[in-house]
Amino acid sequence: MIATITMPRLLYIGGGAVAEVTMALARLGAARPLIVTDRFMESSGTLAKVTDRLDAAGLTWRVFSDTVPDPTTEVVDAGVEMLKAGHYDALVALGGGSPIDTAKAMSVLAANGGAMRDYKVPHEIPTIGMPVIAIPTTAGTGSEVTRFTVITDSERDEKMLIMGLACCPAAAIVDYELTFTMPWRLTADTGIDSLTHAIEAYVSRKASPFTDGVARSAMSLIARHIRDACRAPDSRAAREAMMLGATQAGMAFSNASVCLVHGMSRPIGAFFHVPHGLSNAMLLPEITAFSAPAALERYADCARAMGVAAEGEGNQAAVARLLDELRALNDDLKVPTPKAYGIDAQRYHELLPMMASQALASGSPGNNPRIPSADEIIALYERVYA
Ligand SMILES: [Fe+2]
Repeated sequence: MIATITMPRLLYIGGGAVAEVTMALARLGAARPLIVTDRFMESSGTLAKVTDRLDAAGLTWRVFSDTVPDPTTEVVDAGVEMLKAGHYDALVALGGGSPIDTAKAMSVLAANGGAMRDYKVPHEIPTIGMPVIAIPTTAGTGSEVTRFTVITDSERDEKMLIMGLACCPAAAIVDYELTFTMPWRLTADTGIDSLTHAIEAYVSRKASPFTDGVARSAMSLIARHIRDACRAPDSRAAREAMMLGATQAGMAFSNASVCLVHGMSRPIGAFFHVPHGLSNAMLLPEITAFSAPAALERYADCARAMGVAAEGEGNQAAVARLLDELRALNDDLKVPTPKAYGIDAQRYHELLPMMASQALASGSPGNNPRIPSADEIIALYERVYA
């Protein structure tokens, strides 16, 4: 098997790396960036950490700060309009997954014309657009290194996956010092999202020896530090490990795909507005229990990488420890069941057939070690409701 790996051309990783933004621009031959971010980055002073550097280097820049969580075509279109009205030569995306996904979509659309839906999977993106320099401020989505962007079609209320080399940032600046201010809940949710990326990339049918390495490293870092990052938000060691783990998990799933957890998580997010990492967490233990018999050794490796099973321990015992740990993690991180989250039982059960068909249509369950039927997906949704 030949693995095809897509990654940014440049990565700056470490505390204070945000200062390298001018170096990244210079190396990419750019000098007139449009910064894509959100209002919170502006008001909290994080944006100034970027613009102070640009000013010191004498660069001209402007800011598009209208990005929203779960980015929409409406916002992307407004961003493209601003991009076309100026003489920009790069996009600097600053924030969580949403500003980064918005900047990627702006680059695609500005270079290729038409509407965002013209490029949704399985359509190809003909031209690679303006370079994106991604600066994540959460340790979570991994969007700074992935070849995906997810944009909601404002007219049809559909979450569209857009995928290809044109969606991969040209550079990523991974600076854990930007994550110290993340609140407890966000740290927990984005951390579990990253752990899920790494586990799913490792057990995926599309895994390769390259993605296995970064996935194992990510699992090890995240599992050992997620509780500390929540409990001691100023811990440099915990924040650094979580940030590196999130980026490595991004490299893993960008090139090996995600599986059933993400497939089933998206409909919960879309219908009940549960944050992405939290809906993953609600599903992760039960779906791991469902899937493990089909790939016992792979899941046992996850337990070993996470440090909850000894290297010499048998696969069956290691998988039992993995399940115990995932359940304990949900307890420690106060992950509610869908019921405890306040999701109405009747509406949840009415929607299950549609949620199951959307999960299957996303393609992610097809990468799972155990490929479920629609009825099995419904049964899993029922089991986690509680
Ligand atoms: Fe995710």
